[in-house]
Amino acid sequence: MTSTEKDRVVIFDTTLRDGEQSPGATMTHDEKLEIAELLDDMGVDIIEAGFPIASEGDFRAVSEIAQRSKNAVICGLARAQLPDIDRCWEAVRNAAKPRIHTFIGTSPLHRAIPNLTQDEMAERIEQTVTHARNLCDNVQWSPMDATRTEWDYLCRVVEIAIKAGASTINIPDTVGYTAPVESADLIRRLIETVPGADEVVFATHCHNDLGMATANALAAVQGGARQIECTINGLGERAGNTALEEVVMALKVRGDIMPYTTSIDTKKIMHISRRVATVSGFPVQFNKAIVGKNAFAHESGIHQDGMLKNAETFEIMRPEDVGIAGTSLPLGKHSGRAALRAKLRELGVEVGDNQLKDIFVRFKDLADRKKEVFDDDILALVTATTEGDDALQLVNLKVVCGTGGPAEATLEMEIHGEDMSAVSEGDGPVDATFKAIRMLHPNKARLQLYQVNAVTEGTDAQATVSVRLEEDGMIATGQSADTDTVVASAKAYIHALNRLIVRRGKTGKDVKEISYRDVT
Ligand code: KIV
Ligand code: ZN
Repeated sequence: MTSTEKDRVVIFDTTLRDGEQSPGATMTHDEKLEIAELLDDMGVDIIEAGFPIASEGDFRAVSEIAQRSKNAVICGLARAQLPDIDRCWEAVRNAAKPRIHTFIGTSPLHRAIPNLTQDEMAERIEQTVTHARNLCDNVQWSPMDATRTEWDYLCRVVEIAIKAGASTINIPDTVGYTAPVESADLIRRLIETVPGADEVVFATHCHNDLGMATANALAAVQGGARQIECTINGLGERAGNTALEEVVMALKVRGDIMPYTTSIDTKKIMHISRRVATVSGFPVQFNKAIVGKNAFAHESGIHQDGMLKNAETFEIMRPEDVGIAGTSLPLGKHSGRAALRAKLRELGVEVGDNQLKDIFVRFKDLADRKKEVFDDDILALVTATTEGDDALQLVNLKVVCGTGGPAEATLEMEIHGEDMSAVSEGDGPVDATFKAIRMLHPNKARLQLYQVNAVTEGTDAQATVSVRLEEDGMIATGQSADTDTVVASAKAYIHALNRLIVRRGKTGKDVKEISYRDVT
């Protein structure tokens, strides 16, 4: 290895596997393809595209992402079982650069699940990594729950995996238990101790249960890891994974004390963050580092004064560096279609002529109701117009509510081309509206999440509403935006129902048959 190679940190994105596997974050097939393309364009080195044996849907997604990949290595996950590894290989083999990632839980708690002794597990690791290596030149191996695995046993199994042909050894902090000093120390000691360790790349995979995932990943790099596993917006099970945007920007801004480079085009961060938030139905918290709505907002007078004199007073990075357009002017009701297209391009959104037409109609309607239409308003309109021929459509909604009694919603919908209407009372306008929708389209979907955000400021701001529904293990999210919160809620609910209808029809079943945590 030359010294320049040593300083490069490989970015391994697992938004589509660890991120997508978290309950409620399910994405459609097309959404997965779109996110994979954005990751590839952004310069992610390795995309973990899914867990092929988990379901037919995962297999199809990984296979298609593999076929379409441009620059990135495409990786699939497999448990330490031969059929898993075969299925994974089938899915990734058509990538220009395929990788098999196989793993097994090595800590005492995890060894107890398949009820294997240390020796039996060691044998399984030897057999499965060898099998993977016979199929694919590029094999990654992970001892799940490494940070709670006995030191001697961890060294033993890492050595076995290296000898069996793994070229990347990933050290997962599966339960987010470790702390930065330990994280650095663990990698450093493994590299010093395990025979053959200097021939492979060590990776770090941190969960955020104690809010230390980013710090732990960066510490691991200082200990010698040269691959960081992460997700966009820190999406992932429980408290999530290391956030890609955080580690990448930390390495960029603090290159003085962390002299490592990545190949990420940081200007693409904001766009992909917004798309992942939209398609996963997991909104980004306002004060989230790098990609939160407030990350570059300077509200207080003293901050604004300082910023006007010299942006560096309160900013350690420029908004443009992460793809937030500088001081672009808002559009108004006199702006034409060309201006709208130019604005969409500036925001990183490419649309076809038909979608542009549709967005333009909604934009004009919004501009009539709202003085200035800001970038976030435009992005909300794009989200609201991405789906086509829906079985359920909102035609009209009137709600009467006040302090004197229950709210009453009068709703008109087109259902499979037929106009239908219903009136329902409810505990507030949204409850009345959702009940009316259920009267017209009876279903047993459970509302798991209902979330309202104001896109921009002012009482005429658009509200974006996210709805997550669950029916027989299938999860669908819906989003919409409108200056009327109740209308946005109705549209988001209907959007989610339409997606459930598509999923039921397309696959019959869109649930993972197994989870990567099912170890047998
Ligand atoms: O958290 C974890 O241990 C994992 C492994 C499958 C790498 O996601
Ligand atoms: Zn994980």
